[in-house]
Amino acid sequence: MAGLIERFIDRMPFTMDDPIVSIEEGSTPLVPAPRLSDRVDADVFLKIEGSNPTGSFKDRGMTCAVTAAAREGAETVVCASTGNTAASAAAYAARAGMTCAVLVPEGKIAAGKLAQALIYGARVISLNGNFDVALQLVRDLADQHPISLVNSVNDFRLEGQKTGAFEIVDAIGPIDLMTIPVGNAGNITAYWKGYKEYNDSGVVDSVPELNGYQAAGAAPLVEGKPVANPETVASAIRIGNPARWEEAMAAITESRGAIRAVTDAEILDAYKWLPANEGVFCEPASAASVAGLLKFGVSDAARETADGRPKVVCILTGNGLKDPDTAFDNVGSVIPCEPEMDQLVKAVLG
Ligand code: F0G
Repeated sequence: MAGLIERFIDRMPFTMDDPIVSIEEGSTPLVPAPRLSDRVDADVFLKIEGSNPTGSFKDRGMTCAVTAAAREGAETVVCASTGNTAASAAAYAARAGMTCAVLVPEGKIAAGKLAQALIYGARVISLNGNFDVALQLVRDLADQHPISLVNSVNDFRLEGQKTGAFEIVDAIGPIDLMTIPVGNAGNITAYWKGYKEYNDSGVVDSVPELNGYQAAGAAPLVEGKPVANPETVASAIRIGNPARWEEAMAAITESRGAIRAVTDAEILDAYKWLPANEGVFCEPASAASVAGLLKFGVSDAARETADGRPKVVCILTGNGLKDPDTAFDNVGSVIPCEPEMDQLVKAVLG
């Protein structure tokens, strides 16, 4: 399967003559979730973005951001990150033969993501400050030096990430509701761009309602003001001042949707329920989209416009393996066993 620039070349700010940097991202599974569907009385599908090459949706944006950087002749890319952008930037920079530096909040990045950034060969800089401080610093750095900034303030990132919407519509037609976790607010902005683009060019004649979910301790868009010290178990969305604030709120308003908060306890419930009931393991931030659907359900408006049972898609932004520590903190322990049959029987049958 080709990468997404090639697959959607007619809708991309690139031509096939550009130096496309791809690891065959996109084309992720859209999996029906029968038990979740029963719980919310809708046909719910999970968009498994953890199946991208580095295990998160960031690869959709990164193929575009790094291709654009390569076209401009950039030698170095930089980003601030809660972890996934760092892993993705590091991989695509390696693929392009570029140097990559990533700025991450000290002690607040999941182990898998840190391992990825390092093994792909990035310079990993641990900042004594949160994501919002890191983003401001790299924005200033990129203004002063010939370095390409690959955070989602870079418009090329959105061009890649909008393809998630195309894939959903191509697979199951127009949908009634999409739920998505919101951190720096690039992804919800990109999905809305994608749905509108398909609608405006006549591929479909409806756009879905968007429901964005933030963690309660890091919910600036819900509170209507920046949060100085964001805190949540979902480290990927521990962000207090989203860069795409206005665009995200416009997407919510235009889609007649909502931006709401889910608590860490609700996030962790969904995080544990999903693998045990649907066989799908996502990271805590991703589980916010399911936690939100379970907490707030499907709106009356989405039910009314639906042709039959409403079609709902939850975006699962990152793979559960990214954050093994949170998994271990929330499950039972393994069962020790001597190599003897009676012990084994007890261990197996409980
Ligand atoms: N889910 C995951 C797993 C993420 O890593 C992020 C953002 C989001 C959701 C939120 O997406 O920022 O576009 O609203 N991670 C960024 C990072 C901030 O640095 O990896 P958003």
